[in-house]
Amino acid sequence: MPPAPQRPEISAATAAALAREHWGLSGQLRELGSYADRNFLIEGEAGERHVLKITAEASEPREVVELQAAALGHLSERASAALVPRVIPSRAGPLLVASADARDQACVLRVLSWLPGQLWSERSAPSAALRRSLGLALAQLDLDLQDFEHPAMQRSFRWNLTTPEWIADELSALEPGRQRERVVDALAQFRARVAPRLSELPHQLIHGDANEHNLVVEGDALCGIFDFGDTLAAPVICELAIALAYAAMVPDPVQACAEICAAYHSRRALSTFELDLLFDLIRARLAVSVVSSALAHAHEPDNRHVVASEAKSWALLGTLTDFGRRAVTKYIAGACGQSAPVPVPGARSRTRLLAQRRVRLSAASSLAYDSPLYIRRGEGTWLFDEHDAAYLDCVNNVAHVGHCHPRVVEAASAQLATLNTNTRYLHEGILAYAERLCATLPEPLSVVFLVCSGSEANELALRIARAHTGGREVVVVDGAYHGNTSTLIDISPYKLRGPGGHAPPPWVHVLDTPDPYSGRHGDDGPAYAAPIIAAAHAARVRGEQLAAFICEPVMACAGQVVPAPGFLEAAYGHARAAGAVCIADEVQVGFGRVGDAMWAFEAEGVVPDILTLGKPIANGHPVGAVVTTPALAASFANGMEYFNTFGGNPVSCAVASAVLEVIADEGLVANARETGAWLRAALRELDDPGVGEVRGRGLFLGVELVADPETKAPDARRARAIVEYARGRHVLLSTDGPARNVVKIKPPMCFGPVEARILVTTLAAALRATS
Ligand SMILES: Cc1ncc(COP(=O)(O)O)c(C=O)c1O
Repeated sequence: MPPAPQRPEISAATAAALAREHWGLSGQLRELGSYADRNFLIEGEAGERHVLKITAEASEPREVVELQAAALGHLSERASAALVPRVIPSRAGPLLVASADARDQACVLRVLSWLPGQLWSERSAPSAALRRSLGLALAQLDLDLQDFEHPAMQRSFRWNLTTPEWIADELSALEPGRQRERVVDALAQFRARVAPRLSELPHQLIHGDANEHNLVVEGDALCGIFDFGDTLAAPVICELAIALAYAAMVPDPVQACAEICAAYHSRRALSTFELDLLFDLIRARLAVSVVSSALAHAHEPDNRHVVASEAKSWALLGTLTDFGRRAVTKYIAGACGQSAPVPVPGARSRTRLLAQRRVRLSAASSLAYDSPLYIRRGEGTWLFDEHDAAYLDCVNNVAHVGHCHPRVVEAASAQLATLNTNTRYLHEGILAYAERLCATLPEPLSVVFLVCSGSEANELALRIARAHTGGREVVVVDGAYHGNTSTLIDISPYKLRGPGGHAPPPWVHVLDTPDPYSGRHGDDGPAYAAPIIAAAHAARVRGEQLAAFICEPVMACAGQVVPAPGFLEAAYGHARAAGAVCIADEVQVGFGRVGDAMWAFEAEGVVPDILTLGKPIANGHPVGAVVTTPALAASFANGMEYFNTFGGNPVSCAVASAVLEVIADEGLVANARETGAWLRAALRELDDPGVGEVRGRGLFLGVELVADPETKAPDARRARAIVEYARGRHVLLSTDGPARNVVKIKPPMCFGPVEARILVTTLAAALRATS
């Protein structure tokens, strides 16, 4: 948050002298409250009243004061002229610049006409008629400002409702607990639902601060709107959202909103689109208000103006949140004579889908969460349910460049409308993709096979390894998962040791997980690799031969484990010495997820003989890849054709190419590095004895929950409770690791600093709630 403004230090006597000298005004001066300015009421002998406003240039650039004067000048010739103050020019012009304050600061002075009446804030119970009057007045003001232009109207400051994200950095100013979570939720829903659509809303100059201290009333009529200090160009719906964030601080807030909106709508029609975003905009404003108040407590404990409405803001945020967006929006829309917006048409009932699923799909296909989610759309790092409530996706490493990335969608649609066929024809798409992919890889990884899944990639990798070595046996790491085929289940201890599993077949050799936190050899990487020598020997004794050592350079299902230093290098050495080839399974961790490089193996000082890719490769379109060396590819080309009906088709190649382009163009690897580093550090600061370790690389992180930090006994119950708690707060996570006690974090790569702060605050709350 920027520092508190330096209010000009000017005594009433100095102000009186200035008013007399430059405006010819004399009379009694009384200071008026203001957040940033120094304001005086000047009451003349005959009872005429004016306001002298003094603004420090350091806190408000002169062009912004000019903007305000110009807006008032514009309005003086429009229907709402009577509602707003007139600018009384000084002898030198509308504004006067002087080094007038005690600190010799440059100040801008202006005099405005006084609006007679009572402040809205002095009304204990504003009537329905008064609310309607406010709605009409705001609509008129917005209509009158529609054609106003000024070079300074594009303003960036913290009350700009289009940019509330700065509060993500200040969440620690709020007490942990339910209220803070409401602010996080308001921020999240704004970020997900509103921010991407702002540019589609009609923009213009708005007053931008119709709060109860800036509204003048007389009887049941709103007769004045003043303080244009926050005026700015913004979506015009922000005018109403801001006004509602104050005028709805009453016992019947939804009714108040409906009355004001209906009146507003009768003069300036609200579109369904504006109505759909209104609720989230009001809550964003309230979130900014409460965070600002919390920060202001620290800066200016005595400024009553700053903290006046804090408790009421909290109450309104709570009430609106409890009513929920759908109910509030429906009510407001109804009052405006509109039907409620339907952001995601065609939704069915969750219960019916669940029942249907039980009949039509196998129980072996599981659903996430105790209360399964019905997800209808995705955008960036966000998923939206059937009511368009947003969920922060912290776990989908498949939607690598963001859900429904427009460039990916465009690439798929364009190619799908042109050609989709198999690879038995020449096509430039597959070659362009293979070139592009190989350009990111070290030699000799230069021959590409395109398949349809990670499992197919690993199956093919095993076939290549076996064809090249003549061996059959495979060395794997405990906790690993490599795919869903029969062969791959046999080399996936994660599945073999779980429910429905069986002992590994004799041709599979399982190494201990090289986990520096709880592995038996600590961080002695080579010690975990040494048993490969014995495995090779055992195979030879049986007349067999090792074909492959397969391992993820950062282990996912094993619990987001970064292998102990030196493990991969030693393992590759032993495997190759035994005549085996080394397969790096980067189905989960490839394509820059680890942040410091495009490929996770790069940090380990090794180059695999075969690299397998999947999940993120085409942002959810079913693609997998195997990249190997010319020598291994030659061994595999033994006369038997490798045909994959869908693998490498033009649509898949177009999509996969688009993903590589977006990774590069949007700097997603750097984002994984930077956001990931912040996230890791922030998670490590969470003070909870149950957090055994926070680990990972880039945007591939794990939080291991333990029942006892000494014994490191896994606490799966708590890990699960944390994930369920977060799901209840619309933050999607899952558990992993053989004991399912690791909360895993692997969001789309466009996961940014705001999302990271939402996640950390939610995890902190989840830890408190489950301790
Ligand atoms: C490391 C790893 N390898 C391979 C696979 C199999 O990929 P797919 O599900 O696309 O067949 C997975 C899937 O979870 C995986 O995590």
